[in-house]
Amino acid sequence: MTMRTVSSLSTELKTRIENRQARIAVIGLGYVGLPLALLYTEQKLRVTGFDIDQRKVDTLNAGGSYIFRITPEEISAARSNGLSATSDYSRLTEMDAIIICVPTPLNEYHEPDLSYITNTGHAIAPHLRAGQLVILESTTYPGTTEEVLVPILEKENNAGLKAARPEQTADSDFFVAFSPEREDPGNTSVARRDIPKVVGGLDPQAAELAAAVYGTIFKRVVRVSSPAAAEMTKLLENIYRCVNIALVNELKLLSLRMGLDIWEVIEAASTKPFGFQPFYPGPGLGGHCIPVDPFYLSWKAKEWDFHTRFIELAGEINTGMPYHVISSVVGALNRHKKSLNGSRVLVLGVAYKRDIDDLRESPSLTIIELLQKEGAQVSYHDPYFPTIGKGRRYDLQMKRASLDNLGQYDCVLIVTDHSDYDYAKIVQESQLVVDSRNATKGIKSEKIVHC
Ligand SMILES: NC(=O)c1ccc[n+]([C@@H]2O[C@H](COP(=O)([O-])OP(=O)(O)OC[C@H]3O[C@@H](n4cnc5c(N)ncnc54)[C@H](O)[C@@H]3O)[C@@H](O)[C@H]2O)c1
Repeated sequence: MTMRTVSSLSTELKTRIENRQARIAVIGLGYVGLPLALLYTEQKLRVTGFDIDQRKVDTLNAGGSYIFRITPEEISAARSNGLSATSDYSRLTEMDAIIICVPTPLNEYHEPDLSYITNTGHAIAPHLRAGQLVILESTTYPGTTEEVLVPILEKENNAGLKAARPEQTADSDFFVAFSPEREDPGNTSVARRDIPKVVGGLDPQAAELAAAVYGTIFKRVVRVSSPAAAEMTKLLENIYRCVNIALVNELKLLSLRMGLDIWEVIEAASTKPFGFQPFYPGPGLGGHCIPVDPFYLSWKAKEWDFHTRFIELAGEINTGMPYHVISSVVGALNRHKKSLNGSRVLVLGVAYKRDIDDLRESPSLTIIELLQKEGAQVSYHDPYFPTIGKGRRYDLQMKRASLDNLGQYDCVLIVTDHSDYDYAKIVQESQLVVDSRNATKGIKSEKIVHC
């Protein structure tokens, strides 16, 4: 074990960060990890990205990109500022700060699947050295950093290193913090740098170091008292969205029944200068976060004999939305004296939200499967996806249809309101348009059915 004191180790690392000499490792080069790595290289800090997906490693090292909104030019610029990628974990010993951005999905029983975090912990531990800072960014339940990650790192490192804790500084040799990611894919209204970064350290030194590491790329760092408080902060943010989306989804169903336009109502309510934040209804939740993260907390809550009723209720309403879309299509076809069975349906938009290339948990996938199950002949179009293959929960094997002959479809169903689409033209050329996103706002036509 090292003879250096923790405070000298932390001072050393802080100096390296302040002098821009610190070497940063980003583990998991996906939608979160790759943009984070680029923020560091923009500030001329050297970053090594680690990923088990060799295709991603090779693509980056060849100057290419696999994320639509990140151009190969940005990767090349980052490479000249010190970005490299590897799948070789032994290179971690060269690093000063290690930031973990691996997935945190749910398993088939809707329970947290921490295997990516634990596998990463097992892979880091043998290469851990004194004075390193390890930060977890993956969204997870409060307690994960301290109860799951730290024990693996402490037990499986070869030098008997311990994480710095307030009460046992003498033996502590590496630093640990949690800092949630707050990216909003496709939202260009706030620069990443301007999004405040929340940080919770296992001890004050870890908090100080994590704040310094993020202070190089974010304008404002917000410190909370512990990793668990930072983990809970992220969940509060996402649960707040999930519950409010469920609320407007429910009010949309009622408004449809009452002959009211919920979009008009939300727009009017949004003029209130205080106490109201607009959320919008849709065909169901999508993405890696909102449909998944709240259930990390409801699972953990059971350990405390506590039932998170708002989360469960919101989940119930939101997961029902794709079924509502299907019954709206059935109703709309019925008015044209057609049955869903045998009808040709074009699904417009499969990404989980507007203008992004991300299919994860997209309600379109559920909607396509439900339509097929009912006997519809389903095609799809999405500017971002030439094909839909196989994912964790779907296996569709479809090729993108063209928009040339919309009149051939019995129904065109708008699931994702990409801004590339010319909605007036789509309505004009289609027999029937079912719109789950209010994408046809302002277009007057008997052919449109809002759902
Ligand atoms: N995508 C978002 O908008 C978003 C926003 C906020 C928070 N988050 C959270 O950030 C985390 C990462 O999400 P993402 O969207 O970047 O996921 P992603 O699937 O796009 O990327 C994860 C990457 O980790 C890699 N990986 C998996 N196991 C690994 C291992 N053992 N070692 C090295 N690499 C490994 C995968 O190959 C993949 O490239 C999740 O916890 C997610 O909930 C995501």
